Amino acid sequence: MNIWSLETVNIAYFVSGSGSNFQNLEEHFREKYPKAIGKLVISNKAGIGAQERAEKLGIPFIILKPDLFTSVEAYENQLISLLEDNNIHLICLAGYLKKLPGSLISTFRNRIVNIHPALLPSFGGKGMWGHHIHEAVLQKGCKLTGVTIHLVNENYDEGPIVLQEAVPVLQDDSPEDLQKRVLTMEHELYPIAVELLTSQPWEIAGNNFKLLENNEEN
Ligand code: GRF
Repeated sequence: MNIWSLETVNIAYFVSGSGSNFQNLEEHFREKYPKAIGKLVISNKAGIGAQERAEKLGIPFIILKPDLFTSVEAYENQLISLLEDNNIHLICLAGYLKKLPGSLISTFRNRIVNIHPALLPSFGGKGMWGHHIHEAVLQKGCKLTGVTIHLVNENYDEGPIVLQEAVPVLQDDSPEDLQKRVLTMEHELYPIAVELLTSQPWEIAGNNFKLLENNEEN
């Protein structure tokens, strides 16, 4: 399936926390890019900020806790059926902290996008999430950090990079200062990346995301 050639693109957001990226994407689509339609918010947790945001936006918020299923297969089947029954074309991870099942990644090959608050491949991989990332950037003395939007493959934070943008690290930054500055850039970049993925032809060659000529055949 070429997600750029669809007339409308149905999106499922996966969240585990505050949900500011999910809300920002959804508001952007409603105001400026009606081709993308947020259909579902899926989470492994109840009572998080993202749930309140989903309720305000009127999008179904569905909690699926992998640990509560009798088997991994039962969880995977339920998750994939939910997405297929809702005709989901694209999954936007926005602070989702559970590893995705391999069967989901292969069913939605190159149709799962993630945002990471650093310049991958630095400061990625298992354990690199939230404040841990910004603390590590400061500890290493980096002068630049940034935002990476990438497609998801079986290895944490290693899928093809769609867009990246740098953010300066200032001398007296605390992890919280850095997190705020990076988050502002996240809110700018994620909508641009989703628009790019869903409006222009592209291919994956090796681990490279490449834009293609925009002609009728694509
Ligand atoms: C963001 O920093 C995102 O890059 C990372 O998790 C955080 C989610 O923040 N993957 P929010 O829940 O969207 O506010």
